[in-house]
Amino acid sequence: KRIAIFASGSGSNAQKLMEHFKRSNEIEISLVLTNNADAYVLQRADNFEIPTHIFDKNEFYKTDEVIDLLKNLEIDFVVLAGFLWLIPKNLIHAYPGRIVNIHPAILPKFGGKGMYGDHVHNAVMAAGETEGGITIHYVNENYDEGEYIYQAKYRIDKSDNLEMVKFKGQQLEHQHYPRVVETIVKKISK
Ligand code: GRF
Repeated sequence: KRIAIFASGSGSNAQKLMEHFKRSNEIEISLVLTNNADAYVLQRADNFEIPTHIFDKNEFYKTDEVIDLLKNLEIDFVVLAGFLWLIPKNLIHAYPGRIVNIHPAILPKFGGKGMYGDHVHNAVMAAGETEGGITIHYVNENYDEGEYIYQAKYRIDKSDNLEMVKFKGQQLEHQHYPRVVETIVKKISK
């Protein structure tokens, strides 16, 4: 099976996915796509010799070019890893039940438009939460709303600062995302 990763930034989750599937005979990361020409994920993909594609708003929302590229490369499954743009309807329909995302909170709390990166962790801390977590979920036409696949939690101590909370969340993401993706991709039929 062939996976495409969409990412907008650093791509530490993309890195873990590329490492995880590097030696797999069944699953390959075949393409990394981004809306951000400066995204560090592009460097990471180069290091793994994985092809990349950069697109702009017009291409993504007004044309079928991204879908055509995915289909031409026989991509079976799409993984979002820190991708900040809403997925358009045509892409959802082209990959029904085959697009997943990871969110750095226990949804449905702390999700939705504007809830990404530090905004999430700041909101979690401002709310005085004693637990943070991650959610891996299917992607539909709204931000952070598709069916949940997996959730995990970590403890937030009173003494934790933003960096600590972020770190705990990121550790959980790195630990679980590759494994959960592998399980789902193995279940889909060709
Ligand atoms: C992660 O926290 C993920 O949950 C969210 O965006 C962040 C991406 O981080 N969707 P990275 O680019 O994988 O380091």
